[in-house]
Amino acid sequence: IAYLVCLVVGQVPSPKRITYEGNQVWKIANKTTTLKVLKSLEQDKRLTIWGLTPDGVDAMIHAGAVDQVREKLLENNLEYKVSMEDVQKAIDEENPKAGQDLEGRKGFRLTWNYYHNLDDIYDFLHYLEHTYPKLCTVRTIGGSAEGRPIKLLKISNGRKGNRAVFVEGGIHAREWISPATVTYIIYQFVSGYNKETSSMRGLDWYVVPVLNPDGYLYSYNIDRMWRKNRSVTKSKECLGVDLNRNWGYDWGKNGSSEDPCHNSYGGRKPFSEPETTSVARFFLDNPDIDWRGYVSIHSYGQYIVYPWGSPNAVLDDNAELNKVAKEAAVNIVSAGGETYTVGPAGLTIYPAAGISMDWAKGSQAIKYAYTIELRDTGRYAFLLPAKYIKPTAEEALIAVRTIAKAVAS
Ligand code: ARG
Ligand code: ZN
Repeated sequence: IAYLVCLVVGQVPSPKRITYEGNQVWKIANKTTTLKVLKSLEQDKRLTIWGLTPDGVDAMIHAGAVDQVREKLLENNLEYKVSMEDVQKAIDEENPKAGQDLEGRKGFRLTWNYYHNLDDIYDFLHYLEHTYPKLCTVRTIGGSAEGRPIKLLKISNGRKGNRAVFVEGGIHAREWISPATVTYIIYQFVSGYNKETSSMRGLDWYVVPVLNPDGYLYSYNIDRMWRKNRSVTKSKECLGVDLNRNWGYDWGKNGSSEDPCHNSYGGRKPFSEPETTSVARFFLDNPDIDWRGYVSIHSYGQYIVYPWGSPNAVLDDNAELNKVAKEAAVNIVSAGGETYTVGPAGLTIYPAAGISMDWAKGSQAIKYAYTIELRDTGRYAFLLPAKYIKPTAEEALIAVRTIAKAVAS
């Protein structure tokens, strides 16, 4: 009846938000058998693996499966501790001020006091273009699977021959701290331009704060834990491709899934998705840009990692990339920040194939290619409360400045 009423009134009933009531997050000791056991439990829909952190593997235990999972872990001698009693409670508490703080604001709605919707983020980019026309230009580099624009902000002093860095955020929908951090970095950089480091000012920056707009919106409005984009797959039941498994370098190898229902589904072929293609096309269409850096911003785990994500091989310039990452981590600690673990991605976190960073390094020959996993290490995981946006973004800004210094020198 409600549906009929909506039809008559001319509105589609808005789909309901998914609840995570009764789901828990456990941190499980990372032993040799851990991932095998967890993957089989994941296959049986008892849990969803969230991430690997320096002190264990986090998994969200589905409501109703808590007893079975506990038994299975006991059976396999795997210790765990409950890090989140109720996922829905954490969801309800992460973004308390959403929609407030806007009284009397001029120019743009975006703040770094809470997580904003996609419109506020996109409007902010256009505000920058209007307010700093000599520094900022906004371009739409493509459209998402559902047809939303993918917006890129270029920040440049306009000098010819500048080296360039690409910064990509929001490739994974549920990692809300990523777009929040990327926009914070942009704002600090542009609004304080004259006080910024000369390395930062001497580079051209190409920044996409939300590479997965459909996913971000879906996570914002419907399913907080959504990771992939929203494209139709070969499966009737499952939507979405993991955009960080869809790039055309080492696609489909270890650390990506062929199952459209899996969170790490790599798509039907490399660059099957419009979101990844939009970036690849931008590179193809701009052969004169002197790319020297690529930074992919994610959460969580507090890592600064570099290629490779997929092969276990170590880079020829491993020492150089390691040095810069270490320097970034040291600079963050010196500023009173958190501890970030540094190393080659596949060996330091877990193997992941078809990721943007490996494409940047392997296909585009960009020397300084990094993935930054922001806060935290599992207490709140993807549900980092909004009050931590600023301190987290400050740490990322320090890392970006450190990378900029290496790129510029
Ligand atoms: N959280 C990122 C992802 O799953 C990690 C990418 C970094 N590379 C890696 N091999 N872990 O896409
Ligand atoms: Zn991610």
